[in-house]
Amino acid sequence: MELPVGFEGAVDKGLEGVIACSSSISTIDGTTLLYRGYTIEDLARHASFEEVVYLLWFGDLPTAAQRSAFRAQLSHGAQLPDEMRVWLLGMPTETHPMDFLGAVVAGLTLHDPDANRISREATLRKAVRLTARIGQIVGAYEQVRRGRWPIDPDPSESLAWNTLRSITGEAPSRETERDFEVCLILHADHELNASAFSARVTASTQSGLYSSVLSAIGTLKGPLHGGANQAVIGMLREIRSEDRAEAYFEDLLARREKVMGFGHRVYKDGDPRARILRGMSGKLTEACGRPELHRISTRLESLVAERLGLIPNVDFYSASVYDALGIPDDLFTPVFAASRVAGWCAHVLEQYENNRIYRPRAHYTGKRGLRHPSGAKSR
Ligand SMILES: CC(C)(COP(=O)(O)OP(=O)(O)OC[C@H]1O[C@@H](n2cnc3c(N)ncnc32)[C@H](O)[C@@H]1OP(=O)(O)O)[C@@H](O)C(=O)NCCC(=O)NCCS
Repeated sequence: MELPVGFEGAVDKGLEGVIACSSSISTIDGTTLLYRGYTIEDLARHASFEEVVYLLWFGDLPTAAQRSAFRAQLSHGAQLPDEMRVWLLGMPTETHPMDFLGAVVAGLTLHDPDANRISREATLRKAVRLTARIGQIVGAYEQVRRGRWPIDPDPSESLAWNTLRSITGEAPSRETERDFEVCLILHADHELNASAFSARVTASTQSGLYSSVLSAIGTLKGPLHGGANQAVIGMLREIRSEDRAEAYFEDLLARREKVMGFGHRVYKDGDPRARILRGMSGKLTEACGRPELHRISTRLESLVAERLGLIPNVDFYSASVYDALGIPDDLFTPVFAASRVAGWCAHVLEQYENNRIYRPRAHYTGKRGLRHPSGAKSR
């Protein structure tokens, strides 16, 4: 194989095994996921989403005073600019909501005085606005396509409460708010996943936070990354009942297709987020009267483990959980973005602190030595 001059070894397809940067934000140790040193189980049990966002951006959990000040900043940042709200009403909603989200985030850039500033202070101000608003944009999409005005956020409530209400149109109970908040916590960051890497690559050119988050939104959309949760619910709906799961699975195998929501580049023995979501899926599908989705899921999990030796990832059980929380299928990936934006912002802040542009090399397999025909004639 011909590698660029001065390079040795093989191409790392998919960059497997490449350590591309140092980071103190989150890590995967075996089957343990840590955010800034705290296990995901600990945070899912005890923290609020706002505290987790603070932890990811500032490195430590907030004190009580910092917690309430930060929560107030986020709550007040959630309201979309008036000009944007009018604009939203005219936006097409037949498109995929991830495209809508990207377009609205791009639109927000035009209204943000800090848009092209990359100092830590300016980036933090934008991070607050973006993290507070992405859930509102997802909700606005849902309301606009139902022919309604977007719902204004209530600054006295949490991001979880406001995001869920903006989508469903109904004030969630405290228990539902907490269930959704746990989902937001579980999805907030995940080491150097594809969308965080995209955000970092864009930030490494000294481009601003909005551009970095737009890169990340485009990357999250794909079905091999965040788009998998929508693919999972599509699959569960097609299966329809537990007794049809095996035949469906055999058919997928025969067609050599992937089972969505299974497998992971790093976890081989279990994804701790999926373990938590499995429990929530059992409880919530029962409570909403749609237990079949959970039964199909557990049946598929055993079939896939037995035949393929693959583990469910975060997107597998989040599908039945989001459905039970009343979130429409095509908003699953945008809801993932409403949480993962916290991680993207943390990665951009960290990238700026110790920046070097990402510029790997490619193994060239194209032609050489060709000449333009007009040059050949004139010789
Ligand atoms: C997550 C994922 C993209 C990781 O990709 P990766 O590390 O590059 O692993 P690969 O896709 O190369 O998979 C390695 C092997 O396992 C198989 N495999 C991986 N995930 C599979 C799945 N969900 N269903 C069936 N087979 C799968 C691959 O076909 C491949 O087999 P091969 O070596 O015989 O070709 C991959 O597991 C996948 O596509 N999963 C489904 C989509 C998904 O749930 N994405 C959400 C990720 S959180």
